[in-house]
Amino acid sequence: MTHPLEQLRDEALREIGSAPDEQALESVRVKYLGKSGSVSAWGEQMKTLAKEEKPVIGKLLNDVRNAVTGAIEARAQQFRSQKESGALAKIDISLPGTPRDIGAVHPLTQMWERSIEIFRRMGFALADGPDVEDEWHCFDALNTPPEHPARNEQDTFYLPDGRLLRTHTSTVQIRTMRGAPPPIRVIAPGAAYRRDELDATHSPQFHQIEGLYVDENVSVADLKGTLEFFMRELFGADTAVEFRPHFFPFTEPSAEVDYSCFKCGGPGCRICKWSGWIELGGSGMVHPNVLRAANVDPEEFTGFAFGLGIDRTCARIYELDDIRLLFENDVRFLEQFR
Ligand code: PHE
Repeated sequence: MTHPLEQLRDEALREIGSAPDEQALESVRVKYLGKSGSVSAWGEQMKTLAKEEKPVIGKLLNDVRNAVTGAIEARAQQFRSQKESGALAKIDISLPGTPRDIGAVHPLTQMWERSIEIFRRMGFALADGPDVEDEWHCFDALNTPPEHPARNEQDTFYLPDGRLLRTHTSTVQIRTMRGAPPPIRVIAPGAAYRRDELDATHSPQFHQIEGLYVDENVSVADLKGTLEFFMRELFGADTAVEFRPHFFPFTEPSAEVDYSCFKCGGPGCRICKWSGWIELGGSGMVHPNVLRAANVDPEEFTGFAFGLGIDRTCARIYELDDIRLLFENDVRFLEQFR
């Protein structure tokens, strides 16, 4: 014979199974498991049972309560997933998705990153300085006297308060040397500014990589070796390098650095415009006056410095005939560098 509790359970399970919606299911739950529901009422009755009946009926009651609770939860879950698939059915999964544009690393940044990686391997750390500078860091400390043409208002962007946009990254030489004593081996990639008309080969904002190495016994050989290694890594192992004597106030001796065109290696090249040599930047041994301005003793230490132009070099690597392309942020141009 089935116990009335078992009958109650079967009844409950039937009603749960046939409940048409969540609301109906909730009434079934209240009917059986609610405070005055029939399963709960059995809990009350337990008190009146004989001692030896209690454990048997107690266990049965527990089983019944668990079965009903479990069935209600399972039915509720069914309703939930029905709802979800109903919502999903309204989505047409055969429609094409919305394509997202994925950006590319800007060619100038790619060139910076390659350059930094090469100098890192030679032990150069990264240094930095502000784009808005004072005259002292930009000129005086770099042994550039007040009458020097670079300081002319026609050549430089001055702010009303007398500060200026740095005309080269060489300012970082001074800031680095004053920040910590030698040995110093840093590169400082960054922007520089001059009053140039914007055209295919000039821009009022351009980019340089400054380099500075100060220690005991640093020589011209170190300078040449460092730049030669850099250019061969960047442009290819058979790149020839030329140091052309030049003048910079802040280095002595000074030289401009050229590399042989990586397209032709000689005259007749449409990239180097027939000379076969392409100028990369300036370099030289740090002038004793500069070391002194930066509190470094020129009797104890020597050093070399260089400043490499990034924009034109980048334009050559990618065979661009107009550097303005690098600044216009035209997506049709930039998306080619993915
Ligand atoms: N500052 C120089 C320029 O902008 C380049 C340079 C840097 C030359 C360091 C010598 C040493 O042209």
